[in-house]
Amino acid sequence: MKITIVGAGAVGASCAEYIAIKNFASEVVLLDIKEGVAEGKAMDLMQCASLNGFDTRIVGSTNDYSKSAGSDIVVITSGIPRKPGMTREELIGINAGIVKAVSSSLLEHSPNAIVIVVSNPMDTMTYLVHKTTKLPRNRIIGMGGALDSARFKYRLAEALGAPISDVDGMVIGGHSDTGMVPLARHATRNSVKVTEFLSAERLGQVTEDTKVGGATLTKLLGTSAWYAPGAAVSALAQAIACDQKKMVPCSALLQGEYGLKDLCIGVPVILGRNGIEKIVELKLDAAEKAKMHESAEGVTKTNNLLEV
Ligand code: LAC
Repeated sequence: MKITIVGAGAVGASCAEYIAIKNFASEVVLLDIKEGVAEGKAMDLMQCASLNGFDTRIVGSTNDYSKSAGSDIVVITSGIPRKPGMTREELIGINAGIVKAVSSSLLEHSPNAIVIVVSNPMDTMTYLVHKTTKLPRNRIIGMGGALDSARFKYRLAEALGAPISDVDGMVIGGHSDTGMVPLARHATRNSVKVTEFLSAERLGQVTEDTKVGGATLTKLLGTSAWYAPGAAVSALAQAIACDQKKMVPCSALLQGEYGLKDLCIGVPVILGRNGIEKIVELKLDAAEKAKMHESAEGVTKTNNLLEV
């Protein structure tokens, strides 16, 4: 199992670190355009191997895509992150060109790879990778829902005063401050709906805090977050590499599911060795359906800014 991560910024490096710590890949290639950065981070991470007990070989490279050849999974984190006060959508101008070029170079050297897209605006960048590479939809996965769901669980646990292992919940919809649809009605604590324990008002607060999860961190850090995004990518990569058939919300190309088509947006999917092996269609109630469609309108509006 060889995994290439393009972009050795904070998110890319933390993806590499979590993948290595989970010890399911034989090789991770970290690639960046900045001279020496990927090599440096790879070396630093390799010097953790004896301390953290992993055997994954991490290799750094400055822009040499031949090092990525034969990858099973490729992860695109390239581009600029947002600054406080910015929306993810505002990054499209710079990031679209980068993601387009990176996805073509990656596929040239790893024609059979499964692609995980992290760059923002993530749903639109996932759609752009579809348009650029024309790969079948099972092989292009946008990382957003896995991260947003982890943030939802964090907020639920906080509101419940419970350990995070007690709670379960999912966020579907677009990976944006307004587009996320946390499925509060379905969230549980040890299989009991959280609506039994939390008032509608408190649950509404959890939902709002979840939606601005990334923006809250960007304000605190001065740039966007990296630990949870890195961990989310590593969980997706592991589900694929180990053929786990895990149900995870991811940005997938819809072709009629949820009454939507020709866009990538967060929906629950089954992830296995073939990437997206199934799109799970949940029975949404009228309010959830309305939120999902409103979210899709936002994503489509951003997609329409692409020059493809
Ligand atoms: C975030 C970025 C990765 O939500 O979109 O932190």
